Amino acid sequence: MFTPNKKVFEKRREIFLDKLCGKAAIIPGAKLVQHHADCEYPFRQDSNFWYLTGFDEPDAVALFLSHKPKGERFILFVAPKDVLSEVWHGFRWGLDGAEKEFNADKAHSINELKDLLPDYINGADELVFSIGKHPFIEKIILEIFSKQLENRSRLGIGANSIKSPEIYLNEMRLIKSEFEINRMREATQISAEAHELVRECISSKKNERQIQGLLEGYFLEKGARGPAYNSIVASGDNACILHYTLNNAPLNNGDLLLVDAGCSLIDYYNGDITRTIPISGKFSSEQKVIYEIVLNAQKTAIKSAVTDSNSSNVHNVALTILVDGLKEIGLLSGSTEEIIDNQLYKHLYMHKTGHWLGLDVHDVGAYRMGDYEVPLKNGMILTVEPGIYISDRIPVPDGQPDIDEKWKGIGIRIEDDVLINDENPEILSIAALKEISDLEF
Ligand code: GLY
Ligand code: MN
Ligand code: MN
Repeated sequence: MFTPNKKVFEKRREIFLDKLCGKAAIIPGAKLVQHHADCEYPFRQDSNFWYLTGFDEPDAVALFLSHKPKGERFILFVAPKDVLSEVWHGFRWGLDGAEKEFNADKAHSINELKDLLPDYINGADELVFSIGKHPFIEKIILEIFSKQLENRSRLGIGANSIKSPEIYLNEMRLIKSEFEINRMREATQISAEAHELVRECISSKKNERQIQGLLEGYFLEKGARGPAYNSIVASGDNACILHYTLNNAPLNNGDLLLVDAGCSLIDYYNGDITRTIPISGKFSSEQKVIYEIVLNAQKTAIKSAVTDSNSSNVHNVALTILVDGLKEIGLLSGSTEEIIDNQLYKHLYMHKTGHWLGLDVHDVGAYRMGDYEVPLKNGMILTVEPGIYISDRIPVPDGQPDIDEKWKGIGIRIEDDVLINDENPEILSIAALKEISDLEF
């Protein structure tokens, strides 16, 4: 059974409570989601709830009461111990466990939430709760809140607004602590090793599904929960479908194989890596040209991911190299500036170059606030993942060259996970090789 590092979670709660400054936050955990009939998907805890509690059971709610004295601020509502349920579904910590192992100041049964919540949040200046995500709890909270609003006009006390917890938590989660960086090193290392296994075994595999099995088997063998997201194992033209997850086509010599996969650790830290390799062990001349353009764009963009730059700059560095490369081989024409300003490249490169990575694969945190670009800072983790996807799914924009058949069916993305620091950016996924000489055999 996984027991979290108590100190790490305590520290996060301390910072969060400090930021709340008189407010009461209600943070629900995740519920089980039905797969079919009476079978459920594997449980996945809500990332904010996890970040603050380390408690990994469904049907739990955490309260953070910054208006209360120390020792009365962290309350957990959890599923109570129940012999029969535990025989069917497994161990629960129960109320005692929530207090002793997870350091709740007080724990209650989740069945008491409705009755006890009003007293707990009474006296807070404002409520903090994510509207629109937890219908059952939202109903309770809105009832309490509307009563408080009524009282407010007569007694002058009670919360008068509901704020989103994301205001406080996104900012905290965007900058990874030393502890988190080490967990991300582990997630990305296991993910990179799985990609290496694919590279080493490619010649003996016949179908995309076998590659998926190889990757995901490795994640489990290394103690991860499994894939961080649906693994993308896309051969040939399937690689031009960005989120292809059917993963059941035969592997054909002469095609490329794009694999976008990463593991999720037991404490939910994620890797997200893409590699594109030749199935036969040799790139064709067209595949090689495109691969070189993408690799150059990716390596240069990574170098530009330094403190005080921003994610738009990193995107623009990659985009400029992709566009220049595509111009050189006749797949785009015109001035680079005009192509970029008018998005005339979008039939060949239709996504951004990266996203934050952490407890969520597309992790929380703003990229910009209006016109203000959020600067890159030490401890942020950004993916850098340019690509080129050549098919006739998206019409060629007016004035741009038609695509010769010889290019069609080439889809290449190269993705690494990059830790921003004052020196050079650290490529956490570096163990997954990507030079042409590494991929050919
Ligand atoms: N694997 C999803 C992404 O790269 O964003
Ligand atoms: Mn990604
Ligand atoms: Mn990816």
